[in-house]
Amino acid sequence: MDKLTDKPYWEETYSHRKRAESLRIDGFKNFMNSVILAKLLETGVEGKKVLEIGAGDSIWLPYLAKKFPSSRFVGVDYTESGCALLSHRAKSEGADVEVVREDLFSEDSNLHDSFDIVCSFGVVEHFEDLGNVLSAKKRYLKHGGVMFTLIPNMAGVSGALTRRWNRTVYDKHNPHDLPSLLAGHEQAGLKVISGGYLGSLNFGVLTGCFADRRGLSWQMSRALIALSMSVWLFESKIVQLPASKTFSPYIYVISQKA
Ligand SMILES: C[S@@+](CC[C@H](N)C(=O)[O-])C[C@H]1O[C@@H](n2cnc3c(N)ncnc32)[C@H](O)[C@@H]1O
Repeated sequence: MDKLTDKPYWEETYSHRKRAESLRIDGFKNFMNSVILAKLLETGVEGKKVLEIGAGDSIWLPYLAKKFPSSRFVGVDYTESGCALLSHRAKSEGADVEVVREDLFSEDSNLHDSFDIVCSFGVVEHFEDLGNVLSAKKRYLKHGGVMFTLIPNMAGVSGALTRRWNRTVYDKHNPHDLPSLLAGHEQAGLKVISGGYLGSLNFGVLTGCFADRRGLSWQMSRALIALSMSVWLFESKIVQLPASKTFSPYIYVISQKA
């Protein structure tokens, strides 16, 4: 399987990670989180067995585990540091999350065929062969189980700016658009329930381009983030703006193991 990242890359990323805040959905600054959460909840999380793939330091699992105490939450990641960060985060938030260190391509896992919902937030675009990684993710689902897949929209403006400002980061992503994400689900034999671009605008996704937070490009990215926040203020108070291939920060698909 051709992958655009490897385990040492993620271990290194987590070793430098500043402690990310817990997931918040209140207030206009967190508007994009509330948009993602609303879409995720369309899978019907209450009372279900839920797995996040690539769950190193996940902000989603602790939040969901507290919101849905009747459900069961498990996170899988192959990095030691990502798993340790998630365990620590869940413990400090008083959330019941089981953390399992495992490669998602394991042929033989006790976790296979056992989940009602399997989700991922920015994982499957780091592989050349989308059908293959989605097939591996599908193995964790029960028959009839539902998959939620979210990726950054590297086919739009955010992708073009990432390419310009940090080619190394850009090259770690397969720049899917909606048709190619849907095609990958078809290749994996998943039945698509819904899919689309998600969110109107979020230039906050560009922050990862800048190790050195100085210079004209950094200042431009700050101005774009301020623009995003103004849009979220408008959307949170007045009306949500449409998603689009050009400006949406994310692409999602909800599918089923038929
Ligand atoms: C972009 S991160 C996902 C977002 C991450 N949960 C966060 O909070 O930032 C991708 C995650 O997938 C994990 N990953 C990549 N390949 C994997 C594999 N073959 N098996 C398990 N985890 C993998 C990485 O270790 C990393 O934690």
